[in-house]
Amino acid sequence: MKVLVTGGAGYIGTHTVIELLAAGMEPVIVDNFSNSHPDVLDRLEQISGTKVRCYDVDACDSRALGDVFEKERPDTVIHFAGLKAVGESVEQPLAYYRNNLLAVITVAESMSKYGVRNLVFSSSATVYGDPDQVPIPEDAPLSATNPYGWTKFMGEQILRDVALADSKRRITILRYFNPVGAHESGLIGEDPLGPPNNLMPMIAQVATGQRERLNVYGNDYPTQDGTAVRDYIHVVDLAKAHVRALEHQIGTSGIDTYNLGAGKGYSVLEMVAAFEKASGKTIGYKIVDRRAGDVAVCFADTSLAARELGWEAMKTLADMCADAWRWQSRNIK
Ligand code: NAD
Ligand code: WQD
Repeated sequence: MKVLVTGGAGYIGTHTVIELLAAGMEPVIVDNFSNSHPDVLDRLEQISGTKVRCYDVDACDSRALGDVFEKERPDTVIHFAGLKAVGESVEQPLAYYRNNLLAVITVAESMSKYGVRNLVFSSSATVYGDPDQVPIPEDAPLSATNPYGWTKFMGEQILRDVALADSKRRITILRYFNPVGAHESGLIGEDPLGPPNNLMPMIAQVATGQRERLNVYGNDYPTQDGTAVRDYIHVVDLAKAHVRALEHQIGTSGIDTYNLGAGKGYSVLEMVAAFEKASGKTIGYKIVDRRAGDVAVCFADTSLAARELGWEAMKTLADMCADAWRWQSRNIK
């Protein structure tokens, strides 16, 4: 199966490319390297022994993307390409709406033109806004608290409408909770440009000494230790779910939505303690005010993915921290 992977040079995309190759599939990457580096292609080859074809193309560029479809004739598409920094999306809403929505539309149009029916789309737990129940099931009410979240909310809606209009389409929406960790080789991982927005890369950079300390955003939440609780999922588990989603699509039509999380929550301070144990380093931290838009507790009901995809997260919090530490300590800039 030939799989066109937009955003395949990024954090989740690279890990998924490795799992697609392991499953005997043929990934082809499209990425404009706006948040990644072509060096990663050599690393993919080092891990897999396979040279993966990659096109330096913007997924919003209809003509250039059409040329890739024409040349490669993929069987299916995984659409990761998008901008993902919540704070930046508040400062630059138009850049986020333009890039993330135009990319969804352009990918879906190219698929129609070249007769490609199957699509897997990267969505996010952010579409649950401030959830009124945990664990969160897929049919919980949807909303958003920032432009990035709205692009996922709207991207999903566009694809639901596309599926409704064409009964031959096969679309799977995957809502990721908090992806963390790295490939066990230490060759690929999350490599944020500038200061990390997310907790795990920030903790990892404090552990290496690249950052002085972690700011813990609030310790007055109604949780076991007062810090906010999230559902952290190892990126390799997440990558494997994409392979399962593609396999599950074969021979069927319609649209499905699945939560991808570990199904349990850890607090910020539990994450700090687990990382200290994995790295042997002390993580200095300071309690500061809550971050605007953060919710107290968020974790997934993962039973639908277990039942229908036959997938569940296997890696532990210790694995997530050990792999993130291996990656970060080998990639100090
Ligand atoms: P990433 O930034 O590491 O990867 C995204 C890749 O897409 C990058 O390589 C970037 O260069 C590329 N890209 C962006 N816009 C593009 C465009 N118009 N054309 C071609 N390439 C483009 O991010 P990631 O963490 O791997 O996230 C992948 C997807 O998963 C995104 O859609 C993101 O919103 C979604 N997601 C991520 C998280 C997370 O915490 N990492 C959580 C939920 C959902
Ligand atoms: C986790 C917890 C912070 C940094 C975001 C997006 C979401 C999805 C995943 C893309 C929170 C706390 C963090 C720090 C801290 N991405 N924290 N100090 O906010 O759950 O989700 O990434 O779709 O859409 O919103 O993840 O890693 O930023 O934060 O105390 O320096 O760690 O307050 O409780 P979040 P996160």
